[in-house]
Amino acid sequence: MLACRKPGMLACRKLGLRPPLLLLLPLLGPLGPCSPGTPAAAAPADDAAELEFFTERPLHLVSPAFLSFTIDANLATDPRFFTFLGSSKLRTLARGLAPAYLRFGGNKGDFLIFDPKKEPAFEERSYWLSQGNQDICKSGSIPSDVEEKLRLEWPFQEQVLLREQYQKKFTNSTYSKPNSFQRKAGIFINGRQLGEDFIEFRKLLGKSAFKNAKLYGPDIGQPRRNTVKMLKSFLKAGGEVIDSVTWHHYYVNGRIATKEDFLNPDILDTFISSVQKTLRIVEKIRPLKKVWLGETSSAFGGGAPFLSNTFAAGFMWLDKLGLSARMGIEVVMRQVLFGAGNYHLVDGNFEPLPDYWLSLLFKKLVGNKVLMASVKGPDRSKLRVYLHCTNTKHPRYKEGDLTLYALNLHNVTKHLELPHHLFNKQVDKYLIKPSGPDGLLSKSVQLNDQILKMVDEQTLPALTEKPLHPGSSLGMPPFSYGFFVIRNAKVAACI
Ligand SMILES: *[C@@H]1O[C@H](CO)[C@@H](O)[C@H](O)[C@H]1NC(C)=O
Ligand SMILES: *[C@@H]1O[C@H](CO)[C@@H](O)[C@H](O)[C@H]1NC(C)=O
Repeated sequence: MLACRKPGMLACRKLGLRPPLLLLLPLLGPLGPCSPGTPAAAAPADDAAELEFFTERPLHLVSPAFLSFTIDANLATDPRFFTFLGSSKLRTLARGLAPAYLRFGGNKGDFLIFDPKKEPAFEERSYWLSQGNQDICKSGSIPSDVEEKLRLEWPFQEQVLLREQYQKKFTNSTYSKPNSFQRKAGIFINGRQLGEDFIEFRKLLGKSAFKNAKLYGPDIGQPRRNTVKMLKSFLKAGGEVIDSVTWHHYYVNGRIATKEDFLNPDILDTFISSVQKTLRIVEKIRPLKKVWLGETSSAFGGGAPFLSNTFAAGFMWLDKLGLSARMGIEVVMRQVLFGAGNYHLVDGNFEPLPDYWLSLLFKKLVGNKVLMASVKGPDRSKLRVYLHCTNTKHPRYKEGDLTLYALNLHNVTKHLELPHHLFNKQVDKYLIKPSGPDGLLSKSVQLNDQILKMVDEQTLPALTEKPLHPGSSLGMPPFSYGFFVIRNAKVAACI
């Protein structure tokens, strides 16, 4: 039995004996492209890592929309760029990530003014005119000439948006469609006032056509002195009327972040204490409320150039998903699906970036029942493992299967060994590695040695597993991450 209720406890020990290590040396495959100077010869025994699983009961149930994403409100700064959301490629990519929440928000939200009388721009008008029906969810893609024109203008617009965001000096923008939210800027609102405003807002919603709308807040930053104060007083005053508590998290400042930061397990671990602090406050004041990350990414200020949009960003992303689930965060909203900055999942040419593919794999393979895995031995921080029940929506898998996901931050290949009772199970491997000469800083990735790219505008590629021989250890090349589905595991907690 384990005592792992405490979130973030990386050291959970199970009492029990392990069989001796077997089968290591013959299984060493060739090393990946990101392993400069690592000898492929005999692996020392410490390259094997024994895993322990806690599968008795789910630690948590996360939302089916656990992995969700955002569009920054700054996309509406020049509302013509709103029509980008009608890109057929972007829609195909977004569809792959369903089910998910799409949050539209950010600083710019405080400076958006809705004017129903305003004339829409040419691009908006031609998009709307091209649509027969008015249901935005069913509407088709934007006319290709409009998309092309905007796409050429986008790099300049992106710079404008990033400058505004970084300098925190916003100008008002007026838009004509579709929704509105306006708050007076330049006025400090404390937590109690905000809580009371939420109560008032809930009352107004109750009298409107939106009485079943959910309410989430207060969207505060990481738990530092002022935000803690704000969160506490908000929860006391208005916590009752919100459906989930939202907060934001970024690891580092995008302007100064380095590649080493992105690979640093100590930086990944800083997330644990942020979550713990937030959960503790919520548990004390509003013990029944779920906690969501309403906006989160690797680096603030638009992300880190040449990092947040590369393979290297996947370590922060996958680890954040893993820790969040294990600690009981119900939804994690990634900043951003598409938009200004380097932390986007899809770039300005509507090309999916490494974190898009990682998100897609996560969505397809990882279920919402959260279990727990840990690596035996002292050095756990560079080899990070997470365990869920498999997503049974995946046609290949069934109830009782397990999905293990793992990050290897060591500069040598590591071999994960399943617990004894699962040793002979069939395992499907989904290993992600960078592709091309840029190594960890690559914007393209391969899954099981096959480069991931869209088949065409309407079609995502198949995410093909590599079945391992039963009894194989699970090889993780240096600086790689991936998923392993343990088939036929028949874990009762997953049934
Ligand atoms: C934005 O509009 C609001 C409401 O009209 C106004 O109070 C505020 O001063 C404006 N801010 C800027 C920066 O123009
Ligand atoms: C691998 O990492 C260790 C420290 O963990 C370091 O001493 C060693 O120089 C590194 N080797 C390479 C090839 O980078």
